Amino acid sequence: MGQTNIIEVNKNCWNKVAHHFHGVEALPEYGPFTETEDELHLFDEIKGKKVLEIGCGSGHSLKYMSDRHASELWGIDLSQSQIETAKSTLIGLNTNLICSPMEEECGIPKEYFDMAFSIYALGWSTDLSKTTTLIYSYLKQGGSFIFSWEHPFYSSLTSRNEELILSREYQKEDMWEIPSFKGESVQAIIPRRKLSTFLNELIRVGFKIEKLIEGEVSSKYDNEIGEISERYYSLYKTRLVPSTFIIKARK
Ligand SMILES: C[S@@+](CC[C@H](N)C(=O)[O-])C[C@H]1O[C@@H](n2cnc3c(N)ncnc32)[C@H](O)[C@@H]1O
Repeated sequence: MGQTNIIEVNKNCWNKVAHHFHGVEALPEYGPFTETEDELHLFDEIKGKKVLEIGCGSGHSLKYMSDRHASELWGIDLSQSQIETAKSTLIGLNTNLICSPMEEECGIPKEYFDMAFSIYALGWSTDLSKTTTLIYSYLKQGGSFIFSWEHPFYSSLTSRNEELILSREYQKEDMWEIPSFKGESVQAIIPRRKLSTFLNELIRVGFKIEKLIEGEVSSKYDNEIGEISERYYSLYKTRLVPSTFIIKARK
């Protein structure tokens, strides 16, 4: 399937599943069971900064930025439903919310932002080279880019019969077609990439990598047992393998 068709499939998917993601995967969270921004302190001073979120979803991470007095709030998302939800989350605030694929030019100003970030959205890009090139172009010199995404090793392992089994080839990068998402019968196509691919794309466009975090379990779960589980996301599995990686890079 061509890139344009994949984007259309995913747009349709996200328009249908948007309501499952209201305030889910939003700052201060970086990912399931993972250390949060309150623990990691990755962001530079937010006050007075122009911020851009890639895949802004329901707008809750931009609300987090507003609560910390960012001077401008910009978000881009593929799904019109998500943009409408973000508008209501951010009602009364001065925002620039753009409905567009992240891998396309859409009028976002260049050399403008102090910070760009993305929480569990960048990996949806069908063209990581184009997307990282664009994000780099939006940032001022010295600006930072922070993103989180599912750790590709986590998604290669399945918990079964009290063991973690390698259930797919980590080495293989492909487009994973799934017939349903979040319990809705709607097709989604998720690119599968190695961790090194993300790092190398950032380096290729000129970013300096400041931090790679293979997220440990948040201290919020210190008192939870985390029983053996065969669920896709579980405390048990995340204690063994990071569910999420986070990268901080600088232009
Ligand atoms: C897990 S959600 C992110 C949630 C977000 N962090 C929040 O605070 O609500 C992933 C988002 O990426 C968006 N998305 C998927 N593919 C995209 C693309 N190619 N370009 C832009 N946004 C995309 C989806 O519409 C969805 O809102």
